[in-house]
Amino acid sequence: MPERFTVTTPIYYVNDVPHIGHAYNEVATDVLARWHRQRGDDTWMLTGTDEHGQKIMRTAAANGVSPQEWTDRLVETAWIPQLELLDIANDDFIRTTDERHKVGVRIFLERLKEAGYIYHGEFEGHYCVGCEEYKTPGDLVPGTGEFEGQQVCAIHSRPLETVREANYFFKLSEFGDRLLALYDERPDYVQPEHVRNEVRQFVKQGLTDLSISRNTFDWGIKVPWDETHVVYVWFEALLNYITANGYGVDEERFARRWPATHIVGKDIARFHAVIWPAMQMAAGIEISDHVFGHGWLLVGGEKMSKSKATGIEPKQITEVFGVDAFRYYFMSAIAFGSDGSFSWEDLDARYHSELANGLGNLASRVIAMVHKYCDGVVPDVEIDADIATLVTDAVARAESAIDAFQIHDGVDAAMSIVERLNGYITEQAPWVLAKDVAQRERLAAVLASNVHGIGAAAIMLAPVMPGSAQKLWTAVGGEGEVAAQPIQRAHEWRGTGRVTTVPPLFPRVEQA
Ligand code: ME8
Ligand code: MG
Repeated sequence: MPERFTVTTPIYYVNDVPHIGHAYNEVATDVLARWHRQRGDDTWMLTGTDEHGQKIMRTAAANGVSPQEWTDRLVETAWIPQLELLDIANDDFIRTTDERHKVGVRIFLERLKEAGYIYHGEFEGHYCVGCEEYKTPGDLVPGTGEFEGQQVCAIHSRPLETVREANYFFKLSEFGDRLLALYDERPDYVQPEHVRNEVRQFVKQGLTDLSISRNTFDWGIKVPWDETHVVYVWFEALLNYITANGYGVDEERFARRWPATHIVGKDIARFHAVIWPAMQMAAGIEISDHVFGHGWLLVGGEKMSKSKATGIEPKQITEVFGVDAFRYYFMSAIAFGSDGSFSWEDLDARYHSELANGLGNLASRVIAMVHKYCDGVVPDVEIDADIATLVTDAVARAESAIDAFQIHDGVDAAMSIVERLNGYITEQAPWVLAKDVAQRERLAAVLASNVHGIGAAAIMLAPVMPGSAQKLWTAVGGEGEVAAQPIQRAHEWRGTGRVTTVPPLFPRVEQA
């Protein structure tokens, strides 16, 4: 039986077009999905858009269109094209305005109500529309500039709105002990460690019940038993993970796909690792496998955001460096789980040293030599033992890195082969061996070892740089699709075919 790997991105707010922060999350999730697919796991990658709530309602109004028109336009012209631009191989795309989502949300709510976890009550709270979240005083920081003297949201730097309504509540407060037990029993449920600690600390302080409906606006999913209320946007958004997978309507599909692993930004880890598992416990569905909270992309030391005008669109980068370099850069330069500062200088430097001079140059030199010294046929000889060992170790290291969500380490393992081969070529100097007929066997072993290492690296890099890895693979004589090569057995591949030619993979970029 193949292992199940269902992996999700958050569903993104479509109040604006995507920036590289969203792209970062999409690419990371896609790399994990492609890696598992290449292992032969029963893989399913879900992404989509979060379309209800006040933030989107207000943006639509400000643009003079209905919320539905607004979200349709943004999804079609910006969010779907972004997936194509970034070569994301998602299996499904859910919109919270999809009928399947609305149906599943209603089923879930009815079940929760029947189980006694929902009640009606009075509520007063402070709400950040940017976060679509009720905040407690501890979540706020002193304002600056025009908001000097007021308390503001730590993420959006704006004051909150006071909400005073009669709402439906979810008995979140009942789940504190079970959540703490979950974090203890399954230490790898919330990752990385600092996010797990933060989440646990939050729960330890005691949970209050959660207001899950609003009745002062109507852009949302109606509460099934009281149509004067719409469901709180976060409460229904979290349900996308199950409404997309057949919950309540297709039990067979749901059983096959559920539970899932959620890759989210650390700012929304609490929703995914506190509220969401409590909802799952209340509804009697299996708890998600993992919640991984990745770090933020920082620009000028601050979390990059559109609202603060630090947003960079992926296209600005892919137009210059190409999509594979984009994917490679963000996956290798930032430790997955930590914050990372984006700079054009760093991107440019790594592109040239690691991709153009490192990988691209290695491949073109080796292939040129196989043409020149062996008529284009990879010598069918034993490869050098230290290279074989190096590659075997790199595969093992990458495999366990991916299981631990250490994507950067997985990429580093693959690139360690490239780095070693570049040194190995210099040491072995095949161009010197070629001048001596007595060294024909050595020459054959050196070239075969190089081809082996490049082919294995191509297999391991396929989830990260699908297009370039395929070109590399074909260039070293690999047959068919590189993505069809079992990644956990990359070290077993031996090139014995005919090399072709390698198109320029990472052409030098002259910075303007
Ligand atoms: O929170 N750095 O959507 P969202 C790194 N709709 N990642 C970033 C980032 C940055 N500067 N900015 C955004 C929501 N992201 C809700 C989710 S899920 C049921 C509902 C990434 O559009 C990060 O992964 O504000 C974040 O969690 C995600 O984009 C969604 O952001
Ligand atoms: Mg956000």
